[in-house]
Amino acid sequence: PRSIWLSRHGESNFNLSGQIGGDADISDRGEAYARRLPELVKQSAGDRELTTARFLEYEKLEWKALDELDSGVCDGLTYAEIAEQYPEDFKQRDDDKYNYRYLGGESYRDVVIRLEPIIMELERSENILIVTHQAILRCIYAYFMNVPQERSPWMEVPLHTLIKLTPKAYSTIEERLKADI
Ligand code: F6P
Repeated sequence: PRSIWLSRHGESNFNLSGQIGGDADISDRGEAYARRLPELVKQSAGDRELTTARFLEYEKLEWKALDELDSGVCDGLTYAEIAEQYPEDFKQRDDDKYNYRYLGGESYRDVVIRLEPIIMELERSENILIVTHQAILRCIYAYFMNVPQERSPWMEVPLHTLIKLTPKAYSTIEERLKADI
């Protein structure tokens, strides 16, 4: 059976400083994770999958639709700074995280809509590993785990952990491998 592997990008300098969004560089630990990732994929792939795929060069694609949830005017701020500079917005997001749309940015609901073509692509793809951002992975994860999308903002998708999802007829099998870095 084919599987979908999910991973957040390695820890970034924004993750360390508690700033949201942005395209910050990867930290040293993030870099260590990047180096560990091929090993984790190998560990979690079955023997037959590996034997069958061993002559293939893995094809790498970049999809703009996998960009992180756009936090608009709050990009680059910490949650404490958002609470101070945009108290109304901070409260609104707390009240309805799924529907709250950042000023000049997106909501989780917007992201779910943006991801529709990606999901279609994943539905008909062969084995694939997606490396992207937290909010995006939460929505993809919720979809394959049959969790209502309204709950995606609270899905646990930790850093430096490879998630393997294998969809079956009525449910999806999940495995997680944490990198010890
Ligand atoms: O902190 C990492 C991050 O991916 C941010 O870039 C993003 O804004 C945030 O997580 C999404 O998490 P939440 O929706 O819980 O604020």
